[in-house]
Amino acid sequence: MTAVVGLQWGDEAKGKVVDLLSDSHDIVVRFQGGANAGHTVTVDGRQLKMSLIPSGVLHTGVIGLIGNGVVVDPEALFQEMEQCRDAGVDVEKQVRISDRAHLILPYHKAEESILEHQAEGARIGTTLRGIGPCYQDKVGRRFSIRVGDLLHPSWLRERLERAVAHKNRVLAAMGSEERFSAEALFETCRSWAERLRPYIVDSVEFLHEAVAQGRRVLFEGAQGTLLDVDHGTYPYVTSSNSSMSGIAAGSGIPARWVTHAIGVVKAYTTRVGSGPFPTELDNELGERIREAGNEFGTVTGRPRRCGWFDAVAARYSAKICGVDSLAVMLLDVLTGFEELAICVAYLYQGRELRTVPSHPDVLRQCEPVYELVPGWSEDITGARSFGELPERARQYLRRIEQLVGVPIAIVSVGPERSETIWVEPALVGRG
Ligand code: IMP
Repeated sequence: MTAVVGLQWGDEAKGKVVDLLSDSHDIVVRFQGGANAGHTVTVDGRQLKMSLIPSGVLHTGVIGLIGNGVVVDPEALFQEMEQCRDAGVDVEKQVRISDRAHLILPYHKAEESILEHQAEGARIGTTLRGIGPCYQDKVGRRFSIRVGDLLHPSWLRERLERAVAHKNRVLAAMGSEERFSAEALFETCRSWAERLRPYIVDSVEFLHEAVAQGRRVLFEGAQGTLLDVDHGTYPYVTSSNSSMSGIAAGSGIPARWVTHAIGVVKAYTTRVGSGPFPTELDNELGERIREAGNEFGTVTGRPRRCGWFDAVAARYSAKICGVDSLAVMLLDVLTGFEELAICVAYLYQGRELRTVPSHPDVLRQCEPVYELVPGWSEDITGARSFGELPERARQYLRRIEQLVGVPIAIVSVGPERSETIWVEPALVGRG
């Protein structure tokens, strides 16, 4: 059983790693997040933007399961199903959705939009997909609607009526003119029910049965450990456990069953949305990384904030997740830089910190302590083994490995599946 999780602030190109490993797995599971995630997968030069459906379904016969920990926006899901059908995926056979997953309703987006347009300091810079309000309702228990509720009309009607009455009161109190009709939403939910019915399963039973039959399961993390609601840079985080911690809760599979845990990092760092980012390069160098790496959000199109590799943050995340190996992505983006910097510590009020401080105000004041390493100018996109990389690229990778304290298993030198170096395939269950 394999898990792929991000060790930075998301967008580490986990989709490519999942795609590479999918052919040796039978089921790929999303366990948290929702349509806030965006995975761009390039297959035969064609770009596919996956959001809710695990990108593993692009492999014939692989089942993509949307686990109980995910918050599902049916409209986003239907669009993605269409895209998958166009790409030749047998959606009816390959996609399954947990009946315990919670639904994003239009009022969640309305609520979030108001909150995000508040004063600058209160903004999280979310993707505006209704993720936070939906998880709030889930934990609050009184108003959330689950996928399984769609199949129980009288229960659904009763819950919706209560939820909508409450939401309308909340919207009014927030100064919004917008109101929702329980009857109209009930009809919407009924049409969702008809379309989703063939895909809905008791995902816990489904997974345990599959495991008992010897099926191989791959967990696909969304966002990254630094956006985890418990372990990330709170409050500038997402509303789910986007580290390894989310797997057991979000799928019903015991965490101890995971045999290969892979932590994905970019060869540099990016962040979208608000919040502290010690190695951010708010200058020409950052712009150069953004252009070379095409660092614009998959979901929102927002330019991503770019900076040097932060070994303090990556080591912290690796510790939280207990990963066995690293996948270092987008190394080719750093080609052509004369000198590269790696953050090895933070300087806070004259003191050196070696881990990520828990308070955002402390992290905001941290200055990165850099180690400078020489860059390389050779095109590395054709390298297919570690030895084929230029000496300086190898030195850069070895230093990252040393500082994070986890061996590198995979290095990515381009978006295509073939543009991959399998440094230690055994670490990811290959060979
Ligand atoms: P939310 O998940 O939409 O509530 O957004 C909360 C924070 O997580 C914001 O800073 C978002 O930019 C960030 N975020 C959410 N999903 C992703 C992702 O897939 N990649 C990178 N950042 C994300």
